[in-house]
Amino acid sequence: MATLGFIGSGNIGTNVARLAIAAGIDVVLSNSRGPETLARTIAELGERARAATPEEAARAGDWVVVSIPLAAYRKLPAAALTGKVVLDTINYYPFRDGDFEELDSGQITTSELVQRHLAGAKLVKAFNNIGDGQIPALARPTGAADRTALPIAGDDPEARASAAALIGRLGFDTVDVGPLAESWRFEPETAAYAVPYFADAEALKAAMAKMGEEIRSGRPFQTRPPADPGAPLSADRLRALLAETPRVLTADRVMR
Ligand SMILES: NC(=O)c1ccc[n+]([C@@H]2O[C@H](COP(=O)([O-])OP(=O)(O)OC[C@H]3O[C@@H](n4cnc5c(N)ncnc54)[C@H](OP(=O)(O)O)[C@@H]3O)[C@@H](O)[C@H]2O)c1
Repeated sequence: MATLGFIGSGNIGTNVARLAIAAGIDVVLSNSRGPETLARTIAELGERARAATPEEAARAGDWVVVSIPLAAYRKLPAAALTGKVVLDTINYYPFRDGDFEELDSGQITTSELVQRHLAGAKLVKAFNNIGDGQIPALARPTGAADRTALPIAGDDPEARASAAALIGRLGFDTVDVGPLAESWRFEPETAAYAVPYFADAEALKAAMAKMGEEIRSGRPFQTRPPADPGAPLSADRLRALLAETPRVLTADRVMR
């Protein structure tokens, strides 16, 4: 019986957990406030789901999804994650996470920073470039003509293959981008980030522009990405977007 652990059980964590359960995989969810605060989510997910501490979720998982704000990355339980394939969904948003000079300068990628903390784990960046609403909307069974592809990157080839097999079971094809140093190719506001998975790409871009204005004005953040049914993205199209995209440094982003 396979188990997927989760550290972070918010928008992304719970949507990936639902796909895992649908694929017959047990899930162990955790968050920062304690297992008891996940009771309602566990009741909704059913008997394949249970809640635990981050350490317990890390030890229980055959793979572990890490889906928390970057600001909290140093709290990830490094010892418990040693030897594990860790799927890292984390993006860097300075307005939320604070400033990381090494990331702003493009010296390293967000996932290299997280991998440095989780030195004994095998990190694979995944599920970071698709909106939480598009995860359930675009998941399809293996072999479906309109399967959507997601990029992955990681320094350990076997871990990338293991993550690709898992993601395949969850409902997506994958495009292997290589080592974590290349994962800037699907960081925020690159060509493969969020927009190509939206049916109404213009509505998303308009919302992002508005969110950028709100961030700069210091006003409370009110705009949310629009609800959208999603647009399937083939592996070939994703490969082209990943190849053609320029690197987008934090200073050049609409939302930062
Ligand atoms: N939302 C999206 O569409 C999207 C898409 C792609 C990637 N991402 C990225 O994926 C990550 C998660 O995004 P999200 O939208 O799912 O966030 P979210 O809904 O705010 O959920 C964050 C989760 O992380 C948990 N958490 C925070 N600090 C923690 C800690 N120290 N230990 C354990 N758990 C902790 C939170 O638990 P508590 O509530 O108990 O604090 C919560 O369960 C972010 O880095 C985000 O940038 C998001």
